[in-house]
Amino acid sequence: MGNLYHNKCLFKMNILILFCLIFSPVHGLNLTPIVNLTSGPIQGKVTEYASIDVYQFLGISYTKSPVGKLRLQLPVKPDSWTEVKSVTDFGPACLQPMNPVLNIPYTGKTSEDCLYLKIYVTESTFNNSSERLRPVLFWIHGGAFTFGYGNEGNTEGIPMVPLHDVVLVTMNYRLNAFGFIYFGANEPRIPPNIGFQDQLFALKWVHENIHMFGGLFKRAILESGTVYTDHDVDTLITDSWKLYNKTSCSKSEDVLECMQNLTANEIMQAMILNIDDWGKTETERVEFCLKQWDYIYPHVTHAMGKLNLNHVTKDVLREDN
Ligand SMILES: *[C@@H]1O[C@H](CO)[C@@H](O)[C@H](O)[C@H]1NC(C)=O
Ligand SMILES: *[C@@H]1O[C@H](CO)[C@@H](O)[C@H](O)[C@H]1NC(C)=O
Ligand SMILES: *[C@@H]1O[C@H](CO)[C@@H](O)[C@H](O)[C@H]1NC(C)=O
Ligand SMILES: *[C@@H]1O[C@H](CO)[C@@H](O)[C@H](O)[C@H]1NC(C)=O
Ligand SMILES: *[C@@H]1O[C@H](CO)[C@@H](O)[C@H](O)[C@H]1NC(C)=O
Repeated sequence: MGNLYHNKCLFKMNILILFCLIFSPVHGLNLTPIVNLTSGPIQGKVTEYASIDVYQFLGISYTKSPVGKLRLQLPVKPDSWTEVKSVTDFGPACLQPMNPVLNIPYTGKTSEDCLYLKIYVTESTFNNSSERLRPVLFWIHGGAFTFGYGNEGNTEGIPMVPLHDVVLVTMNYRLNAFGFIYFGANEPRIPPNIGFQDQLFALKWVHENIHMFGGLFKRAILESGTVYTDHDVDTLITDSWKLYNKTSCSKSEDVLECMQNLTANEIMQAMILNIDDWGKTETERVEFCLKQWDYIYPHVTHAMGKLNLNHVTKDVLREDN
């Protein structure tokens, strides 16, 4: 259960990407072969690193655009298409307020229509997909379920993909109010954990399609992740109603339909007002966060004690939060 306001201090930056900040030179726009996905054909671009050709398929939509009647609803499969779709550019990041503690604005494009994933694979692995499949690294960006995007650091999968010959998949999932608002039993038509459902949906997409790129999808190792954020559903429900009360829907009985009628911007503004509750100054906000950490850690120890960790690598114990 994502918690809109009490997880917000876990500004998770995944260590995995930190060594990937080297850019490869792009020589014009070389296109990859066409890949026939189950939903339709796509074509990506080729880049080069250390004389190794890397194929990039960016901006693949793995759901129908989650807008209008699909806002605050579970992800659904995209309609299939027949024309070749060019996937040479990143899709926009999901809507997000500025991270009020780090104070780093995201300068790229954001949109409510943000459910895109990206695939990076070497040409030789791609070419050889009928003979030999390589491991897939499926990276879920951090950001307290509130911030972040799948192309953080513009990793381009470099140098990991060419040098270690893995297939890298990164993706966006709905964040903050768009992905984790939850009104409880009073609005059963809005399911909880929509953002997690997006992640699951993208994993299913990978399961169905990744072999066409030379990736093997069989078993999974969880390499890092928050099995232990505070999952307090009551606080989430209260925060969700607080946000609702800050919109022009506050008087409406039909929560779902009214929320779907709002502009995305109005939801963003209500979120920003809620974030003001963290404190007005940076010092107040940092103090607020430290209090949250005090709150979270005893819960972490408690939760870890209850988990059966046999299937999870011990890496989670030195999680990057
Ligand atoms: C993809 O589909 C097109 C049109 O049906 C076909 O010509 C092409 O050979 C297919 N490509 C692959 C890699 O299967
Ligand atoms: C991959 O296949 C293409 C088309 O057959 C070929 O031109 C290219 O050299 C191959 N690349 C590698 C690294 O095997
Ligand atoms: C393709 O896969 C086969 C079977 O695993 C392997 O013998 C061969 O070396 C691979 N070729 C390339 C270019 O990776
Ligand atoms: C939202 O507004 C309603 C109606 O004014 C009120 O009953 C409720 O307590 C408010 N909820 C929160 C969490 O502020
Ligand atoms: C949502 O918008 C539609 C179309 O404008 C309108 O008919 C409906 O009454 C609105 N619903 C709510 C709950 O505001």
